[in-house]
Amino acid sequence: MPLNYMSGFGGSFEAEAVAGALPVGRNSPQKTPFGLFAEQLSGSAFTAPRHENRRSWLYRLRPTASHSPFKPYGGGALVRSGPFDEVPPSPNRLRWDPLPIPAEPVDFVDGLVTYAGNGDVSAQAGIGIHLYAANASMQARVFYDADGELLIVPQQGALTLATELGRLEVAPGEIAVVPRGVRFRVELEGPSRGYVCENYGAPFRLPELGPIGANGLANARDFLHPTAWFEDRDETTEVVQKFQGRLWTTTLDHSPLDVVAWHGNLAPYKYDLARFNTINTVSYDHPDPSIFTVLTSPSEVPGTANCDFVIFPPRWMVAEHTFRPPWFHRNIMSEFMGLVHGAYDAKAGGFAPGGASLHNCMAGHGPDRESYEKAVAANLGPHKIEDTMAFMFESRWVIRPTKFAAETPLAQLDYDDCWAGFAKAQVPVS
Ligand SMILES: [Fe+2]
Repeated sequence: MPLNYMSGFGGSFEAEAVAGALPVGRNSPQKTPFGLFAEQLSGSAFTAPRHENRRSWLYRLRPTASHSPFKPYGGGALVRSGPFDEVPPSPNRLRWDPLPIPAEPVDFVDGLVTYAGNGDVSAQAGIGIHLYAANASMQARVFYDADGELLIVPQQGALTLATELGRLEVAPGEIAVVPRGVRFRVELEGPSRGYVCENYGAPFRLPELGPIGANGLANARDFLHPTAWFEDRDETTEVVQKFQGRLWTTTLDHSPLDVVAWHGNLAPYKYDLARFNTINTVSYDHPDPSIFTVLTSPSEVPGTANCDFVIFPPRWMVAEHTFRPPWFHRNIMSEFMGLVHGAYDAKAGGFAPGGASLHNCMAGHGPDRESYEKAVAANLGPHKIEDTMAFMFESRWVIRPTKFAAETPLAQLDYDDCWAGFAKAQVPVS
C-alpha cells in the first residue's frame, strides 16, 4: 500500500492514526484520549521568533522519559563529529570512489562513515558529512541524532524511514530530512548507499527567492510529511543515539515508534528532486550555482550559509556565446559534492555515482580538461543535459576530512591530473 503524505513546508500539520487520539483545543489536557502520554518535541528555543519556531506535540503509548541510562555504543567506529582535527585539513582537491557495499550484513547505523565536517556540535554550528553503505534493515533498534538534523540523499536502494511521526519511502532521486532528536528505523530493500548531511546548525529551510518571485526552485507544496503511524510492540528494542559526537545505546522493552497522534510544524519530510523548478540563464553566462539551492541552513551572517544543499539536475542549456559548464573558480565557501546518477557536466570521468569530491576554501577547480575542450568546441544550439543528478553540500566553514577520508584507498591520488595539460593561451606579443 502506498503511504499517504501531507504536503507543505514549515506548516502546521495534525495527524492521528486512530480516530479521536488527537486532543482537541489544547496540547496537554488533564486526561488525554486513551490515556496517551503528551510530549512536546522542540526543534527551536521556546522563544524563537514565530517564523523560526519549530515544535510538535506527540501523543504516545509511553513517555520517552522512561528508559535506563545510555551507555557507550560499541559500533560506529567510523562516525566522527567536530572539531575534525584527526588529520591536518588538506588544501588539496580530493575525490573518492564509491563506498563498496559490505559483504556482511550491515544496517544504516553501522554503515555510516564520516568523511568530513566542520564547526562544533556543542555550539550547534557546522555540519558532519557521512556516507553510508548498508545491506540490512535495522532490526529491533532505532536511531536518533541529538547533534543535528539529518538530510539523507539515497544513491542506491530505496529506504523506508519508520519514524516516530510516521513512515516515509525515499528512493534515489528523492531526499529526506529527519529533525534532530526524532527516532527512526531504516528499512532497506537491498544493497543501499547514499549520503547524509548532519546539520548541527539552524534547520534547513527554503531559500529566499528575491527577484525570482513567489514561485520557483523547490516549491513548498512538493515537500511531503508522514501521516501518523505507530507500532504497539512490547519487545526488546535498542535505542542508539548520537550525542556530542559519540554514539550511545540503551534498551527498552518496547518500540518507541509508538506515537498515535501528533500535531505541529516539526516533522520529517521528503522531497522528490525531479520536482525542482530549475531556473537558469536564457541569455548568456552560467549563473552562480546558488540558483540551484534546494534547502539552506543559514548562519548568523546574512547570505552566508552554514550549509546550502544544491543540486545539478537535468536542464536545458541555451546560453549564447558562453562557456556552458561550471567555470573555473576559487571560493571562500567550501564544497562537498556527490552524484546520485549519471554524469556531472564539469567532469568527463572519475566522478562516479556514489563517489564524492571536496573542493575547499580557495582551492582552484572547475571543468576537467576533457570537459573544457569539449565545451569550447561545442556547437551552442539548445542542448538538454539529461539523466543526471549531482549535488553539493556547501558551507561557509572549511570542510575538514576525517582520517578515514584522508587515508582510504578509495581516495583518488591522481585527481589533480584531470586539470593537467591545458594548452597555454597564446597572447600576441605587442
Ligand atoms: Fe565549485
